[in-house]
Amino acid sequence: MSDAALGALEAQAYQHLISADEGSLDLALKELYAVDGKATVGLEFAPGVLLINGSLSFADLAAAWAEKPPIFVRHVAPVQSVLTLDEGADWRSLVALVAAEEILPHLDPSMPFSVQSRIFPHVAFKPFEVNQLIAQVGVEQFGLTLDVRQPEQVISVAVRSEAGEPPTFYLGASPTAHNLSDWAGGMRRFAREEGQISRAEFKLLEAIDIFGLELPARGTALDLGAAPGGWTRVLRNFEQYVTAVDPGDLDPRLASDRGVRHKRMTAETYLDSGPDPFDIIVNDMRMDGRDSARLMTSYARLLYPHGWALMTLKLPELKRESILEHTFAILRNRYTIAGARQLFHNRSEITIYLRPLKNPSAST
Ligand SMILES: C[S@@+](CC[C@H](N)C(=O)[O-])C[C@H]1O[C@@H](n2cnc3c(N)ncnc32)[C@H](O)[C@@H]1O
Repeated sequence: MSDAALGALEAQAYQHLISADEGSLDLALKELYAVDGKATVGLEFAPGVLLINGSLSFADLAAAWAEKPPIFVRHVAPVQSVLTLDEGADWRSLVALVAAEEILPHLDPSMPFSVQSRIFPHVAFKPFEVNQLIAQVGVEQFGLTLDVRQPEQVISVAVRSEAGEPPTFYLGASPTAHNLSDWAGGMRRFAREEGQISRAEFKLLEAIDIFGLELPARGTALDLGAAPGGWTRVLRNFEQYVTAVDPGDLDPRLASDRGVRHKRMTAETYLDSGPDPFDIIVNDMRMDGRDSARLMTSYARLLYPHGWALMTLKLPELKRESILEHTFAILRNRYTIAGARQLFHNRSEITIYLRPLKNPSAST
């Protein structure tokens, strides 16, 4: 979308919908206030989903977050039209009309688009019905190209209704890159696969996707805190030779895999055994974040310069921000923090993407 088109859309009041993990909403709001000190919360659509009245245009908010990406805000979408239905009104014709008059004219015909709807309780229709309706108008009346897998621009729709009340539609369009996630509300879904070992697999798949991680062909990967072996299985699917370190048992299905070496010991003991370097180091160990970060700095010498590392960081209950800062400071002794996000599949934790420092001694 052109800046002029965005500017025209945003001549109205600046409203945005932000989504975050319910337990981290306070931290997500701090990230918002850090860039827009005058923003206020308008409505809560659901736990972790808020309508924000902002003083920054969506384009300015997106630019600020492109420069310093938030950790806890999972998704943000602009609200450029609000449609409240009267009792008994035909939602289809009215939504199609508002989309055709107020939203679709601002889309760029050269860029594929998609419609992402979310519905907050008590309505009689489903998100895909809203998606289909608006997408059809976009394709048939505006000649747009629909691509639900890799859209470059998205129409975000949130439908909200109090029990028994007619629904209100909140609509907005934005370049997908401005939404912080390609998925509605940042809810990155994966199909459950046969042979899946743990739900933790989704965390690694989501991290690979969101950070755009590349796994070298037939690379070597070290999986710290590997049991029961979900991440190891994902790494094997990406054709990595995996050293899985954990005092616990790996799933028996990995036992016959010659591409997996199980070191039944702690990460601390394995480090002392003088291992060879790796292309990738991942760490999903259940331990204090700062201890885990210290261990990662010791492991940095085992990471090839072209390699990358990934770790989950359990969020403490108290002093989350100061402990996070401390953990980042420890990691920066040996790594560049290339990304840090609370992913959809992270519970009370965040995922950190690390690249080895080129010249670590200079920064310590
Ligand atoms: C959340 S589980 C890992 C799940 C795994 N990523 C998967 O996908 O199946 C955390 C693991 O960390 C391991 N762990 C905790 N402290 C460790 C340490 N010091 N060294 C190695 N593993 C450790 C635990 O034994 C446990 O299996």
